[in-house]
Amino acid sequence: MSIQQTLRQFEKVDLLKTSTPLHRLDNLSKRFGREIYIKRDDMTPLAMGGNKLRKLEFLMADALAKNAKIIVTAGAIQSNHVRQTAAVAAMYGLECVALLENPIQSNDTNFLHNGNKLLTDLFGARCVMCDELTDPQAQMEELITSQSLRDAYIVPVGGSNALGALGYIQCAVEIAGQKPENIEFDKVIVASGSAGTHAGLAIGLKELLPRSQVIGVTVSRKQQDQAPKVEKLQNELAQLLALNQVPDVILWDSFFAPMYGMPNQQGLAAIALLAQQEGILLDPVYTGKAMAGLIDYLENSAEKTPVLFVHTGGAQALFAYADISQTI
Ligand SMILES: Cc1ncc(COP(=O)(O)O)c(C=O)c1O
Repeated sequence: MSIQQTLRQFEKVDLLKTSTPLHRLDNLSKRFGREIYIKRDDMTPLAMGGNKLRKLEFLMADALAKNAKIIVTAGAIQSNHVRQTAAVAAMYGLECVALLENPIQSNDTNFLHNGNKLLTDLFGARCVMCDELTDPQAQMEELITSQSLRDAYIVPVGGSNALGALGYIQCAVEIAGQKPENIEFDKVIVASGSAGTHAGLAIGLKELLPRSQVIGVTVSRKQQDQAPKVEKLQNELAQLLALNQVPDVILWDSFFAPMYGMPNQQGLAAIALLAQQEGILLDPVYTGKAMAGLIDYLENSAEKTPVLFVHTGGAQALFAYADISQTI
């Protein structure tokens, strides 16, 4: 059975309707003298877009099948995941309760209230603050008990369990179908956080475009802690899909400092470059850092093979990090 046929056996709600665009970055291709393409998952159609909608297609179907009335999830105050989950819960008439942390301990008004947080509030999610998400699953279970939330369904941080990661198998199917015939992507670059995007793409492309190497750029934790997370999810996905090929986990780890949620100079330079060369918005937490990895590779590699950047969204956070405009 093909991976497409296997995928069709899983229930999903239809949030996307059509594929997101995949297109050439003309100015960047010219600048670096090689074919550079982008997959526009920042343009998924709900809640201002982003990668979580693909995961939520599968997770929401599971929640509805289990007659959930409340979606419980967790993330940072500026979580793109929480924003998208809150919107999808609203769409299906479910309550959303979000357990939030302030990972960078910022008191900036924009960070606390603008960007993703503004939109999460608008979508009607009830936000509960905690000091730190040390064990989000246990903390969400505790919240459900302490607040007597009935018929609650937990969407894990980032939507990253094997079911959610099926969304990025679907994205791999799209990429394989959209790729220009004469182009063979040597590398596919993506931000690697809760790992569902990375794991789904790596497993899916291993089947569909085996010569394309998926590379995750760490944004949440260092390589030594990120690699086992990706590997575990890849193994779970392979088992769910009855596949026996699991790719090696490849991570670039030099673009993540100082920590999750804190911008760095390379990331900000990448944001400015994409905005000014291509009119495309990245974000300071995920895609700016991932693009910094790609730019560093393009600047330092002698290879001239085609590459693909998977844009996972997040530009809404720019408004929460408005002070970066002074550094760009
Ligand atoms: C904009 C953006 N890009 C990338 C990621 C990372 O994706 P994943 O959590 O599946 O690793 C996230 C996760 O929150 C995100 O919001």
